Amino acid sequence: MAEAPFVPPARLLLGPGPSDVDPRVLAAQAQSLIGHLDPEFIKLMDRIKTMLREVFGTANPFTLPISGTGSAGMEASFVNFLRPGDRVVVGVNGVFGTRMTEVAWKLGGQVERVVKPWGQVFTPADFGPALAKGPAKLLAIVHAETSTGAWQPIEGMAAVAHDHGALLLVDTVTSLGGVPVEVDRWEADIVYSGTQKCLSVPPGLSPLTLSPKALEALKVRAASGPVFPGTTPPPSNPNSIQSWYLDLMQLEKYWGSDRVYHHTAPISALYGLHEGLRLVLEEGLAARLSRHAKNSAALWAGLAALGLKPWAQEGHRLPSLNAVTVPDGVDEVAVRKALLTDYSIEIGGGLGELKGKIWRVGLMGHSSRIGNVMRFLEAFAKALGTQMKLPDVKPALSAAEAAAR
Ligand SMILES: Cc1ncc(COP(=O)(O)O)c(C=O)c1O
Repeated sequence: MAEAPFVPPARLLLGPGPSDVDPRVLAAQAQSLIGHLDPEFIKLMDRIKTMLREVFGTANPFTLPISGTGSAGMEASFVNFLRPGDRVVVGVNGVFGTRMTEVAWKLGGQVERVVKPWGQVFTPADFGPALAKGPAKLLAIVHAETSTGAWQPIEGMAAVAHDHGALLLVDTVTSLGGVPVEVDRWEADIVYSGTQKCLSVPPGLSPLTLSPKALEALKVRAASGPVFPGTTPPPSNPNSIQSWYLDLMQLEKYWGSDRVYHHTAPISALYGLHEGLRLVLEEGLAARLSRHAKNSAALWAGLAALGLKPWAQEGHRLPSLNAVTVPDGVDEVAVRKALLTDYSIEIGGGLGELKGKIWRVGLMGHSSRIGNVMRFLEAFAKALGTQMKLPDVKPALSAAEAAAR
């Protein structure tokens, strides 16, 4: 018997990502292919770069989407700047800071972890002692820690990194397009993101931007590495970038003016990103950020009326990822299961040390709508209400509605 086609169930994606995708993006991805060196495709690439700069808040000429999900952007950020034995300081207050340390370790970096409880954020002064211990190549931090819902301020981080001769590397996977990302104002050097969160484009691309300072460091390293194509670098050459696929100088040759083939671009994914960025700029970045803030405020007004509490540090809670503390004695998995099977709503549970302790409710991109907040609150109250006595949901819905106005 022939295999049946796959038909995904209609879900409302309110988890940690992916988020719902605008039908315009899906339609863009369904268009017929053209070649990845076709002049029309090259024009599309240029438009993507221009729009990415606007969304990242940067004039950086080196701004492009890496082929691969957010983790590819993370890996590219480390592999191009870190040589075996180099020191790197990483802020660890959740899963993605932890992942950064793993990536850096795998590359032979000497990792100095600066740790905070999961859900808390860092101040620039937290990194001073680790940076002062000795020269470090990078200070790496996560702007929007998806595993905890903490919104890390980036102000002042570049100054502390640069004062100690390090470049500032920032993960904006759960912030770009939903929470202010201001690469130039931050003076950040290496910033990457992902498409499947607040940009609401399917997973598969990782926008990345480099400051002129980072680009200079990369050029120096590339120039002192192997020069001729086909030359086998001696295994001990510390300047050789330890990835072929993610070598940013090589990618720049395709995305920059040379247009030299490196790998076949994921054409349909780039059609989708182009449409997703058009949607961001059509709505207006400021309006989009305020939509995310309002819908999160509405969610919290409703949750508070139901007696639920946030997890992340007060004053530092992401609008895109809302971490809700699981009340004592509640089986959080059963609530998520009921939401998915009875209401077709996906939310996330806690990861790592937060397993069983939080729910993660994403309000990202196309998913961040007041109608979705109301639908979630109603379903959540019913699902949780089977395990504990909750206040009436109607005042919670009214509170949410009022907060969204
Ligand atoms: C903050 C952060 N960084 C990196 C990643 C990795 O992205 P991906 O899963 O797309 O590889 C994620 C994914 O959730 C994330 O939330």
